[in-house]
Amino acid sequence: MIVSPATPASPTVAVIVVAAGSGSRLGHAEPKAFVLLHMRPLLDHALDSIFGMNETVQIIVVAPGDRVADARAIAAHAAARYAAPELALSVVAGGRTRQGSVDHGLSALLPSIDVVLVHDAARALTPAALCDKVVAAVRATGHGIIPGLPVVDTIKRVADSGAILGTVDRSELSAVQTPQGFPRAMLVAARTWAAANGRFEALTDDAALVADAGHPVTVIAGHPLAFKITTPEDLERADLLLHAAAPQPVLLPRIGTGLDVHAFAADNEPDGGTELWLAGLYWPGERGLSGHSDGDVAAHAICDALLGAAGLGDIGSIFGTADPRFSGAHGDVFLAETVRLVRAAGYLVGNVSVQIIGNRPRFSQRRAEAETRLAGILSAPVNIAATTTDALGFTGRGEGVAATATALLYPAPLYTVPSSAPGPGQTPDLNWEA
Ligand code: CTP
Ligand code: MG
Repeated sequence: MIVSPATPASPTVAVIVVAAGSGSRLGHAEPKAFVLLHMRPLLDHALDSIFGMNETVQIIVVAPGDRVADARAIAAHAAARYAAPELALSVVAGGRTRQGSVDHGLSALLPSIDVVLVHDAARALTPAALCDKVVAAVRATGHGIIPGLPVVDTIKRVADSGAILGTVDRSELSAVQTPQGFPRAMLVAARTWAAANGRFEALTDDAALVADAGHPVTVIAGHPLAFKITTPEDLERADLLLHAAAPQPVLLPRIGTGLDVHAFAADNEPDGGTELWLAGLYWPGERGLSGHSDGDVAAHAICDALLGAAGLGDIGSIFGTADPRFSGAHGDVFLAETVRLVRAAGYLVGNVSVQIIGNRPRFSQRRAEAETRLAGILSAPVNIAATTTDALGFTGRGEGVAATATALLYPAPLYTVPSSAPGPGQTPDLNWEA
């Protein structure tokens, strides 16, 4: 039996969270640990399982070599969420294989550690209670302990041809999970033995390695939520489980502001600079505004307000001047695309208020026409005010026109769910019997 007092400064249990795999079967561009599940990286979820333990543990995250800094940021964020001391938290670079990654993790163990758990970050929804149970069982038995679930399917041995060779007695089978826990000395000795006897390649999990070296390993009851996210279907399953337990919190309405200025075109400016387009309307007989597009300051200010409210950046980052589709384009092109992006982000336009600042054109006669035109594009009420600046500044000198806009967005009904949902970063209680 292993009994030693733990303090936050010298924990006796360490959890090595292996997160250095590429996730080739999941098929994302990002390594698996950084793939988002409910807007949080899988690694962040996996750390919930560890920070949520009753036991105070040393946490060693093993990350892809080129993502150590990102993993460190995620781990620090998780530690802050649990008000956990960062003292016993380290992030190290992984190896080419899972076993190599475990080795790198072991090299970071504090001297005070006498029980080591190895846990797959890919088992992102593992209940913290399972981790505590593994620790308790390692302490109670002095054995290696692994969680496992009975196999429910009938298992056949099948030839390459598809012919059935036999039925395996499933009563003897267990689908094993992580965290796998071992007395530190036993794990280290087993790995030394495996290295000396060339067994590393053949034995993929830690328990197999420890058992192969002749040490006892016992299976305890695992947990359905400790399943490994390997394929896109697994990720979808995790998403559904989280969603069922805690629907997305209500999205609040959001506001954004925008500002745009264009100079009046010089007389000798090439074509495109002479027609005035403002607030979605053509203004015959008025000098045009210069710009890559039609220079419609009101439309552009509205785009920025909408994009800002949705958290989508600004008009320059979405409609680059290098993009020929927008060269000379009228405001309605930008507005329609902006509304599409805002909707894709889950929002509808509540209303927009625009202020045009300039001496010309005299806006009041066509205010209603402009408001109707823009409201049609945005499917929302638009109010346009216009003012001069009492002969002050560039607008007062008649050098150009400015516009500001404020937009209110509200969440599309699809995104609205009961307000009892937990806040961002809070782990929902999945309410699943241990
Ligand atoms: N792992 C690791 N270092 C490696 C390979 C795997 O730390 N060189 C980790 C993974 O990050 C994962 C766990 O081991 O948390 C289980 O591995 P697996 O589910 O196979 O993940 P990947 O190897 O990333 O996925 P795949 O095999 O589909 O590429
Ligand atoms: Mg793998």
